[in-house]
Amino acid sequence: MKKQAQVSVIILAAGQGTRMKSKLPKVLHSIGGKSLLTHVIHTAAELNAQHTVVVHGHGGELVKNSLVAESVIWVEQKAQLGTGHAVDQATPHIDDNHIILVLYGDVPLIQSSTLSELIDKTATNALAILTVHLKNPQGYGRIVRDSAGAIQRIVEQKDASEDELAINEINTGILAVQGKLLKSWLNRLENNNAQDEYYLTDIIAMAVADGVAVNAAHPAGEDEVLGVNSRSQLAYLERVFQHDQAESLMRQGVTLIDPARLDVRGQVTVGKDVTLDVNVILEGQVVIADDVYIGPNCVIRDSVIGEGVQIQAMCVLDNAVVGTNCLLGPYSRLRPGAELKGDNHIGNFVEIKNSVIGVGSKVNHLTYIGDTDMGSRVNIGAGTITANYDGANKHRTMIGDNASTGSNSVLVAPVCLGDKATLGAGTVLTKDAPKGKLTVARTRQTTIDGWQRPEKKSNKGQK
Ligand code: UD1
Ligand code: CA
Repeated sequence: MKKQAQVSVIILAAGQGTRMKSKLPKVLHSIGGKSLLTHVIHTAAELNAQHTVVVHGHGGELVKNSLVAESVIWVEQKAQLGTGHAVDQATPHIDDNHIILVLYGDVPLIQSSTLSELIDKTATNALAILTVHLKNPQGYGRIVRDSAGAIQRIVEQKDASEDELAINEINTGILAVQGKLLKSWLNRLENNNAQDEYYLTDIIAMAVADGVAVNAAHPAGEDEVLGVNSRSQLAYLERVFQHDQAESLMRQGVTLIDPARLDVRGQVTVGKDVTLDVNVILEGQVVIADDVYIGPNCVIRDSVIGEGVQIQAMCVLDNAVVGTNCLLGPYSRLRPGAELKGDNHIGNFVEIKNSVIGVGSKVNHLTYIGDTDMGSRVNIGAGTITANYDGANKHRTMIGDNASTGSNSVLVAPVCLGDKATLGAGTVLTKDAPKGKLTVARTRQTTIDGWQRPEKKSNKGQK
């Protein structure tokens, strides 16, 4: 069997994106919480590309600095002299025998399966271009074929004749060809056209002249090859992307009350019989086990949700771990480092940060638990606050198993409640509360005998 050629990718991302009316370079705008350019880089990575070269221009440093984690080669195109010129900046970084795949940084939803088909069409030294038939081909380069149906050249909208404008097979811009061939054609590009640009598309006619076959491949759907030039197109592709995420979750056995009202901005791992109610937002790495219900308007970021957990409406979780069978919400907030060990009840207006909550413990109403190690089967009364910050440093609170705090208790850390300790309501705890005893720290209740309530003086005679 013939050894498959190595693939290297060039991503064009030097355009300004004027129509976005943004301070941010266009390719840094996001879909599904990930920049347009990152989408394309990750798709290229699925092809096991040898090198990925990104051609940047406008706002280049910002683009580079935002994507430092990506292993790509950055090349600057100082002046945007056309797509051919842009590719020419990148080719010196790529081996002559590699297949070069040209992608656009602002065409985010292209699928690796489509690109693999395109690459397959470069076998036997052919040039392969990705084309699609559009009802409205306005603005795109048109694919000109001869009477036998063989591709002859691409003509840009601005250079096209009446007859050519009527062609509705368009150039998506995405193409693949052997490095050596591409380089030889790029050297011969000229800019004598309506836009005074070096058109990459002119290499198609050169290939034909050199006797190199030109093959076409097609995407599975139009949305794959749509570019982002405006906020409106960005919003459209965001919906397309979210629709795909929702479909994928449903294929994995998730019930979505309304697939159009879910947003996934990251990677979600799901178990069986998960139900997501409307307007749930999942961000970052989210792991959801079997039989979990997530209610309306919850935002869950980088968190792990255990089996059987029920999250009622309006909860916000960020870097939290929720053990099995917990009940949360409505209106609970778990901040980074919140770890619920299981069978916990966390109720309304409860905020938990950097704390471990032992099995079966309940924090049901109007409470802040921060920097706390809480044992099992603890009951936290309404309005309990751990005062963990002295204005300079944070301190921890320790709460033993079966302890209980009365309503409106303030636990001034560092402080410790022993196992089965009980705090009376309104306690401001500044010293440790011993195990098994009732501790109360508040002004004693007194009743004043003989006290008289003041009475209103008579106004008669006064004016
Ligand atoms: C290009 C194609 C056209 C195709 C269309 C698909 C050419 C000459 N035309 O046209 O056939 O139908 O894409 O969308 O190739 N870029 C650079 N540097 C440059 C110029 C462009 O990096 O000097 C980048 C842009 O950022 C963009 C991509 O290349 O991501 C395409 O450029 P754009 O100007 O949008 O191409 P079109 O004129 O629309
Ligand atoms: Ca252009």
